[in-house]
Parts: sequence; C-alpha cells; structure tokens
Amino acid sequence: MADSARERIVTGANDTDSSAERRATELLRDRAQRNSNSPGMNDLRPRRFADYIGQRDVVNSIQIAVEAAKHRGDTLDHALFHGPPGLGKTTISQIIAREMDTTLVHTSGPALERPADVVGILSNQKYGDVLFIDEIHRLSHAVEEYLYSAMEDFRVDFITGTGAFAKTINLPLQKFTLIGSTTRAGMLSPPLRERFALTYHLDFYSDEEITQVVKRSAMILSVPIDEAGAEVIAKRSRGTPRIANNLLRRVRDFAQVRGDGKIDSGVAAEALRVEGVDELGLDRLDRLYLETLAKNYGGGPAGINALAASANEEVQTLEDVVEPFLLKIGFIMRTPQGRRATPQGMMHVGAPIESSDAGQRSLL
Ligand code: ADE
Repeated sequence: MADSARERIVTGANDTDSSAERRATELLRDRAQRNSNSPGMNDLRPRRFADYIGQRDVVNSIQIAVEAAKHRGDTLDHALFHGPPGLGKTTISQIIAREMDTTLVHTSGPALERPADVVGILSNQKYGDVLFIDEIHRLSHAVEEYLYSAMEDFRVDFITGTGAFAKTINLPLQKFTLIGSTTRAGMLSPPLRERFALTYHLDFYSDEEITQVVKRSAMILSVPIDEAGAEVIAKRSRGTPRIANNLLRRVRDFAQVRGDGKIDSGVAAEALRVEGVDELGLDRLDRLYLETLAKNYGGGPAGINALAASANEEVQTLEDVVEPFLLKIGFIMRTPQGRRATPQGMMHVGAPIESSDAGQRSLL
C-alpha cells in the first residue's frame, strides 16, 4: 500500500462569507495553528491508525468500518466528525483515505458556493475516493440539496436551461465516501445529518494522551525533552493536540535561544509564561471572556450577544473557539438565562465569589 497521502485540495472564492464567520474561521485556524503552513506541521500528524494517540473509541470503531469495507471490496460508508477544532477530524479523515488506499479530495462548505461547484467535484470523484468537506455546516441549502441524492443513490439531477428549454440531466456518479467535518453538529440540517451512516464526536484529550503526543512530536522534531517537560506543555494544551504541537515548537525555540536546547519542566514553564499561556492553557481571549463575564456581569447570567458586545468579539468566535474548553473544565455553565461563571472560573480571574457560591468554595 502506498504510504504517501494522495490529497487534492479544492478551494473556491467565497465573497458571501460574512465577516463574523470569516473572523471565527480564521481564529479557529490561527489560534491553535500559527505556523501550520510551515513545512513540518503535517509531518507531526499520525499517518496510520496504529500511530494515532487518543480517541480510542472513535478510532476502534472507524478502524473496524474501514477493515470491513476493504474486506468486502466496497467503499466506506459516509462519515461525519464533529467536535471542537484541533482534535483530529482532518487527521483521522486523511488516515482513513490512506488506510483505504484511496485519494482524499479536500474542500470546505464555504468553498462550495454554487451548485455548479459541487456538481463539478462530485462528477470528478473516482470509485472509492474520499470527499472531505470541512465546515460542512456552512454549505448553502441549494448546494446541500445536491448532496442528498449524491450520498444516497450516487447520482445528481441538475437542470440546464430555463423556461421552455429547461431540461433535467441525471448524472450518475462513481461510488464515493463523503466525510463531513464540523465544529457545529447542531447546525447541520436533519436530512444531511441522517445521510451519514457513521457519526463520531471527538472530545478533548486527557493530559496523559497529550503528554504522549508531545513526546512523539518531540521525537519527530529531534528535540530532547524529559517527561516533566512534556507534562508541563501537555497541561497547557487545552486537551488539543494541535495546540500541544504548536506550544512544543514555541518551547523548542525558547530552549534553543535561552538554554541548551533541552526541554525540562523549568524551561517549558518559563517559555509558556513568556508566550502568555497560563498554567491551564488559557490565553488572552479566554481570560478576556472570563473577566468580562466575571467583572462586567458579576459572574452572569449573561446572554452571549451581550457578552460578545462587551468583549468586542464575534458571537461565533466565543461559541466555537472559547466556550468549549471553558465548559469542559467547569469554568462556565450554559443556562437558559445565559452564561454563568462558576466559582472556579471566578477565582481564576481573581473575581469575588457571591456568598451563595461561597459554600462551594471549600469544595474547590
Ligand atoms: N499529532 C497530532 N495529533 C496526534 C494524535 N492524535 N496522535 C499522535 N500524534 C498526533
């Protein structure tokens, strides 16, 4: 089996993107993957299931589906991956294509602007190809409708001409696998969601798993690191491999310039302090969110629109980029009345805790 990834990337102009969506998308990418385009970023990604750390249940299940499809000489069923950014949705999809010994065609919801874009891509799929649609929740309704028959019956019907000259053309397609990736499963329409036979949620990694990722990446980058150094980086990586790899690079640079190139816990902690990453991995934007909620709204409840206006940020950025990890570590809660900071969240930004919360303080 060839080990090199066969991947085609399909992009398209997208003038209709709202600036809010664009900003959130940029942040989703930039926040965790600064330098992701530099050579080497891809090299840290596991290329086979055997090298993949974490997401055990997801990997086991998809591995069985892949093996079974290969055994039958069939294509893999359509799969949907959802979860916060940086947890491996794209990486797992690339591994699937590699393990199926097929080609991954990479595109995104915003790039498939017009029905002609999607019909063009679909008609170019070869038997067994994996069509990967990132941010699939951002497909337009018109484009999405073409996917229904493509996914179900491997054909698309499209209309050429207008009025009396209108003609429906039925275009048969090669059997392919659609992999959708989204940070917003809730924004997918039910008809689209139901057409994925395989649906997986990726969750944040444990500190132990991220420590393993850091050690593996350090080995690939030939950076000497001890266990404690890897643990310090892992603890500040917000359970996200992409962030861990990025922080590892920053610590490596610091160790090279200010030390002897070796990473231990002291070097890692100092390098990350300089980077403005606190002991829990929260950065400027996380702290701004928490401080706004804690100090401007007395800990909440506050509506997301009001919070976004006060913090001068986009709602979508707060929802997609900031909130998932703060929810996960129990610093905020979503209630019907709005967002609330928990006593832990309040304490983290040095805000006074209400007396009704004081009882919980002793439990912290
Ligand atoms: N690099 C990034 N994500 C990884 C993972 N889940 N396992 C191993 N290496 C990784």
